[in-house]
Amino acid sequence: MTRTSSSRRRFLKSSSLAAAAVALRGSSLLAQSSAQVDAHIDIDPGETIATISPEIYSHFIEHLGGVIYDGVWVGEGSKIANVGGIRKDFIDTMRAVQVPVLRWPGGCFADSYDWRDGIGPRDKRPNRAGFWKQQESNQYGLHEFMRTCRAIGCKPYLAANLRTQPARDFYQEIEYCNAPAGNLPSNSAAPAAPDALAAQREANGDREPFNVDLWGVGNESWGCGGNLTPEEYAMEFRRFTAWTPTYGDTPLRFVAVGPNGDDVDWTSRLFKALYGNPERRHLWGLSVHYYTSGSPTKFAAGDALKFNDDEFYDLLTRGSLMDKVITDHWNAMSSAVPSALSREQPSVKLVVDEWGAWYGKGTELAPEYNLSQQSTMRDALLTGITFDIFQRHADKVGVAAVAQSINCIHSLMLAQGDRFCVTPTFHVFQMYLPHRGAQSVRADFTAASIPNPMGNTASQVGGNSYIGQLPPIKSLAGLSGSASVKGKSLTLTVVNPHLTQPMTTEIAVRGASIASAKGTVLAEKDVHAHNDFAHPDAVKPRSAGALSPAGGKLTHSFPPASVTSLEIALV
Ligand code: AHR
Repeated sequence: MTRTSSSRRRFLKSSSLAAAAVALRGSSLLAQSSAQVDAHIDIDPGETIATISPEIYSHFIEHLGGVIYDGVWVGEGSKIANVGGIRKDFIDTMRAVQVPVLRWPGGCFADSYDWRDGIGPRDKRPNRAGFWKQQESNQYGLHEFMRTCRAIGCKPYLAANLRTQPARDFYQEIEYCNAPAGNLPSNSAAPAAPDALAAQREANGDREPFNVDLWGVGNESWGCGGNLTPEEYAMEFRRFTAWTPTYGDTPLRFVAVGPNGDDVDWTSRLFKALYGNPERRHLWGLSVHYYTSGSPTKFAAGDALKFNDDEFYDLLTRGSLMDKVITDHWNAMSSAVPSALSREQPSVKLVVDEWGAWYGKGTELAPEYNLSQQSTMRDALLTGITFDIFQRHADKVGVAAVAQSINCIHSLMLAQGDRFCVTPTFHVFQMYLPHRGAQSVRADFTAASIPNPMGNTASQVGGNSYIGQLPPIKSLAGLSGSASVKGKSLTLTVVNPHLTQPMTTEIAVRGASIASAKGTVLAEKDVHAHNDFAHPDAVKPRSAGALSPAGGKLTHSFPPASVTSLEIALV
């Protein structure tokens, strides 16, 4: 049960009202007019958390299965509608959700990738063995990725290879991307050389610099990125990020490899090791990867489409642990860093650059579309729960990227040849757009929680076997969400995870009255509902219906298993 004592008192009052209404219903039609309320949402616009970074709505694409080849890249000669080889539906859909940042080329793939393999004439690029046991043709490389970002209108976020390349290659990748045409770094007195990397970039088709500011320094270095200890990684991070070339006014934002799920030991030791040396100033963000496995059982990953009620509640319960993961790592950073450094700490953001529900085999588009999976209403609810958590922690989370945009774990799009559809998750991304750049404010949700029917099983938190364990999780919030304000407009997003129970909820705003409201809801009778190529619109949002505030408050019934976005005008 949530939260403040005043709201708890009100809840008890409304619970007894509800009980009274139920008792009356048997004997009198008067019950129909009774104020039956299942939950309360109390919003306090005066209690601000932070501005919601639009970058928490970022994306990730990796050379894995059908993500790049067929998903993003169909090739210039393709019959599939494309813009310079990039699938047009992919671009249009990414534009429709206003993607702010796109991460590439991995994931685990990044730590065995040589960025030089993907530049120059395509017919001269080498074939290589890629990380995910598939041949890498290198037809999609750095320039194609930058064109993708330009077509979408987003910023690039590059993951650098720390496991199999030395720091020099990283420095040179930065130079290749960011040096002005024909120039050397601003800290160099030497004249521009004809073989300067900027000149190579120009010869390869891009005279203007890419101005990449966001750089991941390795990926999952505790696992596929090198099996390093936090102390070993801290040394590598410092070596990679010290004395990097800088160009123009673009400060580089370096993201250090963070924990696997809720592994606070990694975060704590990494921070101690990094801050133990005064040359630490390059750290901008700490990457966090948290996947919700389709099953709590170790080495089983569940099925994207076939799940029972217990598994539905269990997945959402474990997904809600994102809240704990964020808080735990934030606290670990705070306590690991000596107090003299604490004033700097707010400048270190959490970068949740891989998240989503990860299921086992069974719903792939085809065997070679490794890790592709279907997405149902269950995943839409997880998406809403996750964004609400990020927004409630707007002071901590600077960037987050869903894994991955297309043909993969928690995708917004599925594509195979000329067939294409969006998933329910796409719709949630669109419904949450108004939150971006708004001020996140405190919202207390008061509702009875749902016991997790599988809450006695220790949880695996990822789809791959090396991802760690979490303790049993007993319950799921009966209603959750987040609120943000821009002037007199308030955006409220709400997830009702009950499979059958609508949640009639009284919404009140401290110090203001609700003048009007409108909204959108995503809800289907069956939580297994999903889109596929034959039924691309089986799941889509609809209007939340007539919303009539009374006495400055709004009472609204959130349908079972739904995600709702309300736009509320305040006076
Ligand atoms: O997103 C798939 C994989 O999951 C990524 O390559 C890796 O970083 C994580 O383990």
